[in-house]
Amino acid sequence: MEPQTPQAEPAHPPLEALAVQPLLNHDYETRPAVFYERLREEYGPVAPVDVLGVPAWLVVGYTQTLDILRDARGNWSRRVGTWRAYRDGAVPADWPMLPVVESDNCGFRDGADSTRLRGAWSEGLRPFQDRSRPEAKALEQAVRRYADELLTVIAESAGPAGETDLSAQYARPLPLMVIGRLLGTGAGDGDELITDLWRVMDAGPEAHEASVRLIERVTDLCAARARTPGEDLPSYMLAAVPDLTTEELAAEMAMLTGLVGDVTATLIGNTIAEVLIGETGARDSLSSGMLQEAINRAAAANPPMANLAFRWAKADVRLGRFQIAAGDPVMVSPAAAHRDPAFAAGGGPDSIYSSRAHLAWSAGPHACLGRDLATTITTIAVERLFDRFSGLRLAVPADLLPWRSSPLIRGLRSLPVTYDPVGDPPAPQPSPAAEEAAEQEDPGEGGQNSLVRRVLRMMRLSQS
Ligand code: HEM
Repeated sequence: MEPQTPQAEPAHPPLEALAVQPLLNHDYETRPAVFYERLREEYGPVAPVDVLGVPAWLVVGYTQTLDILRDARGNWSRRVGTWRAYRDGAVPADWPMLPVVESDNCGFRDGADSTRLRGAWSEGLRPFQDRSRPEAKALEQAVRRYADELLTVIAESAGPAGETDLSAQYARPLPLMVIGRLLGTGAGDGDELITDLWRVMDAGPEAHEASVRLIERVTDLCAARARTPGEDLPSYMLAAVPDLTTEELAAEMAMLTGLVGDVTATLIGNTIAEVLIGETGARDSLSSGMLQEAINRAAAANPPMANLAFRWAKADVRLGRFQIAAGDPVMVSPAAAHRDPAFAAGGGPDSIYSSRAHLAWSAGPHACLGRDLATTITTIAVERLFDRFSGLRLAVPADLLPWRSSPLIRGLRSLPVTYDPVGDPPAPQPSPAAEEAAEQEDPGEGGQNSLVRRVLRMMRLSQS
């Protein structure tokens, strides 16, 4: 790799002796711009940090982030076995990010291994992402129905003018229901899976047991799809790459539950928050009907995957002011890269990057493959909400919004809002195919036993 800064700095101690800045701190959570700027000033585009007790390089420069993600020269590995400290037994067994970096899904594979799984994903997702396909149309209709019904429940339970937590009542439950559709779980039999996923995401006392059950259920489901294929994501992935084992498919589907149930929910919440805060132009984009631009702006301001779980250097490389040793962990940070003046000046006459050049979906050989689907779900969620509820306002000052404390995810723990009195929901106009699908999955659509109400009930129960 070329040196990333013109001047080579003098030799420095190894990462282990340098990483004294804890990544998780008050500013990181409440004023990330301040934290990233401090790192940039002190260290340049790459800074040694402490990630929950483990030293790592945090990449805060936009060009360096893009170079690493594109990895044109094959300098970076995603296999945990490349990590020197891991091989030496220096990573504590209870390090909270261990389950993530030890995952055996496509995110943590290299080369042909990764290409094979990405091929299965691209083909499997195609029917749901290509908007001319019936599966994609039916999914969009379903998301609209779920959104409208969730909004009805909010309006009913909070009274005509009221206050609600749009994270718990809307942004989080909505994508959960999409998971059932993607996995092809029929009426009722996906309920337990969704409840367990909710428990895992909630990280409450039952999270560990729920996660074990979730993996078992997903594995059973993948084995069933291998025996009897259906019109669902795992079946389509198997059709594209028939030698996928049940374990491999289950690892990908477990990742799916997090990407849809957590990361997409986070994007919905962050977009709504960004529109309501109104500082980054997301509100203006929404008002002028440019919903995708509103989502871009929200994703640039607060990328749901703020920092990407480690990549490891395959050989010694110079990066910023530092010499990265082979086997060192590197965490690229779209959140920090977006605050780099080289990117943040986007839109200005001298800027070389447009706001769409944000890295919230990553880039290069591990770039997100579900971008269109996640954007569709988010677009519908935001559109339905603002169509239905006028006068939406944050119920707390923007600087008091409670952000999650996570080394990877930038999302809200809750999104308290107030709104003006609401009218009746706009009448949905389902296509015949969507109506048929709705009947199969949701015998009591709109009634007390609809999927939406079942999920909300289960979420309440699992919290009590
Ligand atoms: C429908 C929901 C989604 C699906 C199906 C999906 C699918 C995927 C897949 C399969 C990968 C792995 C690619 C690989 O490692 O080769 C991935 C990576 C990624 N996705 Fe998504 N995704 C979804 C939602 C999102 C959302 C909402 C965001 C954020 C706005 C996002 C951002 C990313 C990023 C940053 C990566 C790269 C992670 C890394 O390199 O460490 N995804 N996605």
